[in-house]
Amino acid sequence: MTSAVTRGHAHGGDAVRIFGQPETGSYPMAAREPLNVGLLHASLSDPAMSSMNFLNEIAGRYPGAVPFAAGRPVEEFFDVADLHRYLDVFCSYLLGLGRTPEEVRRCLFQYSRTKGIINDLVARHLAVDEDIDVDPESIVVTVGCQEAMFLAVRALRFSERDVLLAISPTYVGLVGAASIADLPIVPVPGGPRGLDPDALRARIRAVVGQGLRPRGLYIMPDFANPSGVSLGTDQRRRLLEIAEQEDLLLLEDNPYGIFAADDAPRVPSLKALDRDRRVIYLGTFAKSALPGARVGYVVADQRVRDRTGHTTLFADELSKIKSMLTVNTSPITQAIIGGRLLEYDCSVRRANSRERAHYAANMRAVLAGLKQRFSAVDGVDWNTPSGGFFVVMSVPFTVDDALLEISARDYGVLWTPMCHFYEGDGGATALRLSCSVVGPEQIDEGLDRLAALVRDMAQRRRSGGDGLIPTSPG
Ligand SMILES: Cc1ncc(COP(=O)(O)O)c(C=O)c1O
Repeated sequence: MTSAVTRGHAHGGDAVRIFGQPETGSYPMAAREPLNVGLLHASLSDPAMSSMNFLNEIAGRYPGAVPFAAGRPVEEFFDVADLHRYLDVFCSYLLGLGRTPEEVRRCLFQYSRTKGIINDLVARHLAVDEDIDVDPESIVVTVGCQEAMFLAVRALRFSERDVLLAISPTYVGLVGAASIADLPIVPVPGGPRGLDPDALRARIRAVVGQGLRPRGLYIMPDFANPSGVSLGTDQRRRLLEIAEQEDLLLLEDNPYGIFAADDAPRVPSLKALDRDRRVIYLGTFAKSALPGARVGYVVADQRVRDRTGHTTLFADELSKIKSMLTVNTSPITQAIIGGRLLEYDCSVRRANSRERAHYAANMRAVLAGLKQRFSAVDGVDWNTPSGGFFVVMSVPFTVDDALLEISARDYGVLWTPMCHFYEGDGGATALRLSCSVVGPEQIDEGLDRLAALVRDMAQRRRSGGDGLIPTSPG
């Protein structure tokens, strides 16, 4: 083996080496051999980690297909001019608070506070829209909700005895974050109502019986991704009772709650009902403002006692991890979100009045279109969420990535196989339809295409086929 010193010589003497062209056998194996995934972090072999990339990649390959797969917000209302205005609004707000122009400049351009610079505005939004009353100091503004989830699972994972319960089916981003944090997920079947208290209790008992320690339960009580299911107020109260009795933290993820239909009764979030600081609340402005800002947050008002007996907020502990992960969330994008919040008196609901109308109309159109095309079709069924982005449809055949590819290529319609959202083999005959980015004509066209796929699959099953459709070239 050549030493690092001789390797670094570019010319001269006996040890002439050219960078990038090592003498055979003289470089560490890693430079010539592929890295062995078996020697990399275990999460890299977890299929959940490839799920998002795969789904994005297939959507990218079939840009003409009707996008019932994308969970993105509608783009129609994006306007570059808004970004400039939001920044200005935020800067004026800081000046109005008595900051000097130099301080405002520094605030936007410099590294900034790890916990965030718009915490007070986020706290006001939570009070205005969600009736959640929290101290801004218990909030950490994060790089999207994805970072918030990671901070929480990383901090909660102490040893190999720890597990995280998650209502199944669950969001792949959570599964990935937990996998990176070495925190195994134990699925808890949500059932058609989104929570089965008996199944939850049984799962907690079983886990504890195995000597494991459930560190929390991850749940999306409002228009869950992927199921579209929401919990009623009674179920929420029941869940908080169980959490109290079983001494369990709840990780409430709520990106879609503000997209409730106007005529649907308002249901309080778990955090709004939480009197015992049991709920760690995960939020994002990705769906309600712009995902490009990558601004989310976590409310972590739990108290933590350190070794000296001194008490801190869990948010402060999460912020320590963040300081070594992303240092701080971009102050520029926080300022953009801050300006948008200020412009609407911190009401994200008000800021989204056009978007909410769009999503509600789309949801109605998708549900009506499904009824029109599939009510007489054997074995096809779907749920009827009263808001959010997602509807789940069950079909009498296997739904997997191969079928998605066929659907995109030969039928021109994209959706998401539900199996991506289950640990193990759940969701094998169901697909998720997202109604966020489609327009009214696309909904009709897309559902016609989906109906053609379902019809062909049913025909093949009737004629004794394996459910696979012969593929057309190209
Ligand atoms: C349930 C859920 N949580 C979190 C996120 C991620 O949010 P962000 O883009 O802020 O990381 C999403 C995005 O689709 C989601 O559906």
